[in-house]
Amino acid sequence: MAAVWQTVVNGNAEWLAKKILDFELTKEAVIKEISKTNVSMKEKAFQTILKNRTFHGGILADGAGFLKHGENGKGIRSRWYPVTLARRFDNLKLVADRITFRQEDGLAVIREYSQRHDVVFFIDPPYTAGGKKAGKRLYRHFNLDHECLFTLCKSVKGDFLMTYDNADEVKEMARRHGFQMRLIPMTNTHHSTIEELVIGKELSWMDCYPTVHESKSEYKTVDRRKKVPHSTRSSDIKKKSSLKQS
Ligand SMILES: C[S@@+](CC[C@H](N)C(=O)[O-])C[C@H]1O[C@@H](n2cnc3c(N)ncnc32)[C@H](O)[C@@H]1O
Repeated sequence: MAAVWQTVVNGNAEWLAKKILDFELTKEAVIKEISKTNVSMKEKAFQTILKNRTFHGGILADGAGFLKHGENGKGIRSRWYPVTLARRFDNLKLVADRITFRQEDGLAVIREYSQRHDVVFFIDPPYTAGGKKAGKRLYRHFNLDHECLFTLCKSVKGDFLMTYDNADEVKEMARRHGFQMRLIPMTNTHHSTIEELVIGKELSWMDCYPTVHESKSEYKTVDRRKKVPHSTRSSDIKKKSSLKQS
């Protein structure tokens, strides 16, 4: 992934767009292309795009395999939209000179800018909070200290916006750090709509989306009443009823 962004900021987005448009996609051609070693940065970027579009679920992590049936039984070609992909890179070319790309630990970069009031962070971490979900299968670098990320977000002087999957562990962390949450619809690789969690300090500008409130339930009550030993003696019962009447 880093190779793709590096290629865009190096001024080779147009090269990548043309390469995508010119490629005759067959399984054999993909295997030939991705088997090349000692390739340049831009060629590595092209290999990444090919894998992402032809491997099952777009998975780039080690051990991923080719799409077998894909969408509508179109197999390996089912997620290959060269014109759309090329247009995205052509669009990126227009803003490339405003992007600085750093292949580093995101937590360290957030720390570096955390005291700046004029900085806004958009954070899209791998979805592995709670030790489950898609992130583990999708990315080689899935291992992230989510608790540390939330604590860092709490410390930033500017603003931040973070996206996560709608998991209980994530919501619990967000509540504990006093953040707000909204649920937004998102189309996944299987073209079905799922809900994604957006987390931030103040999200009232997103009021058109459902707010995620505190979970109800779990109130613990302490019974402070003195326990009265249960009595069946008729004199006791009489005493109680006379009190009631008076
Ligand atoms: C949900 S994806 C983000 C995809 C990104 N929004 C994009 O459009 O390319 C999460 C990414 O975080 C990366 N990642 C994991 N740990 C990281 C860290 N400590 N610092 C920076 N990136 C990290 C993973 O490699 C993965 O590519």
